Amino acid sequence: MNRETSLFSGRPSELVGQQIAGYRIEQEIGRGGMAVVYRARDLRLERTVALKLLAPELARNDTFRRRFTHESRAAAAIDHPHIVPVFEAGETDGVLYIAMRYVAGSDLRHLLDREGPLPPATAVRVAAQVASALDAAHDHGLVHRDVKPGNILVSRGTDSDHPEHVYLTDFGLTKKSLSLTGFTTVGQFVGTLDYVAPEQISGKPVDARCDVYGFACVVYETLAGHPPFRRDDDMALLWAHQYDDPPPLTEARPGIAAQADPVFAKALAKRPDDRYPSCLDFVAALRAATTGGGPAGAVRTPARGDRQRPGAGEERPQPPPRWAEPVFLPRP
Ligand SMILES: Nc1ncnc2c1ncn2[C@@H]1O[C@H](COP(=O)(O)OP(=O)(O)O)[C@@H](O)[C@H]1O
Ligand SMILES: [Mg+2]
Repeated sequence: MNRETSLFSGRPSELVGQQIAGYRIEQEIGRGGMAVVYRARDLRLERTVALKLLAPELARNDTFRRRFTHESRAAAAIDHPHIVPVFEAGETDGVLYIAMRYVAGSDLRHLLDREGPLPPATAVRVAAQVASALDAAHDHGLVHRDVKPGNILVSRGTDSDHPEHVYLTDFGLTKKSLSLTGFTTVGQFVGTLDYVAPEQISGKPVDARCDVYGFACVVYETLAGHPPFRRDDDMALLWAHQYDDPPPLTEARPGIAAQADPVFAKALAKRPDDRYPSCLDFVAALRAATTGGGPAGAVRTPARGDRQRPGAGEERPQPPPRWAEPVFLPRP
């Protein structure tokens, strides 16, 4: 069996205990469409890292390799409290890898699947952290292109005023930029199309505002429990992103102030020029709509999966929301 085969088609446990590029693999954390992520030990610095091994077919794609090298350098150069620090990116035996900070906790995908939609104040807190990361990346000339709940990692915060600390990860690692039809040339699925901007679909040049769109889809989902567009198949979904109006958030989450609807309409505008110029501008408008919008801003009704105690004040700092608790369990 060659090394490539053993890395990706074997059982998850197969690599545990092995050394790759100076890292000892300890445990598989998870796998997406194009990579496997392990908890590993950096044997030089004696520290725990997350080691991401990219699928071999990506290493063979020149466009991807160039972008991988360029953007992992660019991402590593950004020192930001809400961007997962990249320690090293390289190649060994034809396998591209990235070593980065190991974030104990959960990603937002798992969190939403487990807990359902977030209380509005929590959603806005999480959104503000992701927005600051995206805006910082944009200031460095970097567009993420694959903002989605799986790329947002949630860990324990510093105190009860900051119950969670959120990290954005995976800059420049999307396959969507290689194929806009949902499948690569080898017929492998690209990943979710729930957060893809209209201009990405139509193959126009993308800039920071494509991330504003994807990010707004994610924030919508944290509040509604589902992304703005739900269709039976990929083509219908791509069509909806390009031509359909997003359903008002208040239809899915009646307790939210009606002022939030125009905020999402603007963030999810089909034309990039019509969107908020930055992610933090969007979050500021959302925060004003959900908290400062007069009496309606304070009204909320429990939604599916919303575990906050009835009557609990949205802005009361103590105690941390119950949804956060299981997230902090250390990985076995
Ligand atoms: N730095 C990290 N620390 C801890 N877990 C991580 C880290 N990076 C990624 N993960 C986890 O690894 C899993 C797989 O990630 P990935 O291959 O990027 O797939 P996707 O982004 O499609 O979920 C995800 O569940 C994510 O939570
Ligand atoms: Mg990812």
